[in-house]
Amino acid sequence: MSETLRPHTLRVAATPEFAARAAASEIVALLDAALSWRGEAHLCLAGGTTPRLLHEALTELPFEGWPHVHIWFGDERCVPPDHRDSNVGMARQTLLDRVAVSPEHVHRLAGELPPEEAARQYHDELHAMAARRGRTIPVMDVLVLGLGGDGHTASLFPGSPLLTPESAPATWSAAVHVPALGTSRLTLTPVVLQAAAAVIMLVTGPDKQQALARVLRRAAPVAQLPARLLESANGDVAWFVDEQAVFGR
Ligand code: 6PG
Repeated sequence: MSETLRPHTLRVAATPEFAARAAASEIVALLDAALSWRGEAHLCLAGGTTPRLLHEALTELPFEGWPHVHIWFGDERCVPPDHRDSNVGMARQTLLDRVAVSPEHVHRLAGELPPEEAARQYHDELHAMAARRGRTIPVMDVLVLGLGGDGHTASLFPGSPLLTPESAPATWSAAVHVPALGTSRLTLTPVVLQAAAAVIMLVTGPDKQQALARVLRRAAPVAQLPARLLESANGDVAWFVDEQAVFGR
C-alpha cells in the first residue's frame, strides 16, 4: 500500500441533496473514464441511509454506461435481500431497479447465508474479478463509503480484529461480529477498500460532525477510527459532505 498520504479533497455542499448530486456527478465521470479505458467498470456501493440521496441523484444523470457497470457492496447485514435492513435491497429500490444495470452484474453479499459461508463466497467472486482483470487483488474503479458516528466505515467498526494486520485474515471479505450492534455483519476487508482506484466518502447530517472532525483531525488510531484507513488508500479520496456534517446544526 502507498505509505504517503494520497491527496484527499473535501467538498462541502450546503445541503445533503447538493452533496449527493456532486458525488453522483463525480462517480459518473469516474465510471465514464473506466469504461473508455477498459469497456467495463466496477462500482462498489455503500449501505445505510445516506446513499439513498446519492442513488436518487445517479438515476437523474444521463449516464449510458450502466449495462457495462458491475455493482459490488462494501458491506451487508446478515439478512435476506428483501429484509428492510438489507443494503442490496435498498440499492435495488433506489438505484438498481431504475437504471439499466444487468442483473448478472450485481454481485451481492448473500446476507441470507451463514455469515462465514457468505464471506467465503464473496471472496471467491472477488478473486475471480481480480483474475479476470489480470490483477492479484480486486480493484474497484469507484468505491463509495459512508461514515458511522463512531468512525466506522463499511462494517469495519472500532476494535475490529480486521483492523490489525496481525489478526486480519488474508481474505477480501469477512464475516464479523459487531459487539456494539450485537449482531454479525459482512464486509470487505481493509486491503480491498485501500486498493480502490477512487474513493467517494459521502457524509451528511449533524450527527456525523464529531466523527468527521475526529477522522479529518486524525484524533485516534485506525483501530479506534476505522475510516482513517483511507488515508493510505491507493487511489484518490474525495469527501462529499454537507455544512451540517462540518459545522453541526
Ligand atoms: C451500513 C454501511 C455503514 C454506513 C454507516 C453510515 O451497512 O450501515 O455500510 O458503514 O455507511 O453506518 O450509515 P448512515 O448512512 O445510515 O448514516
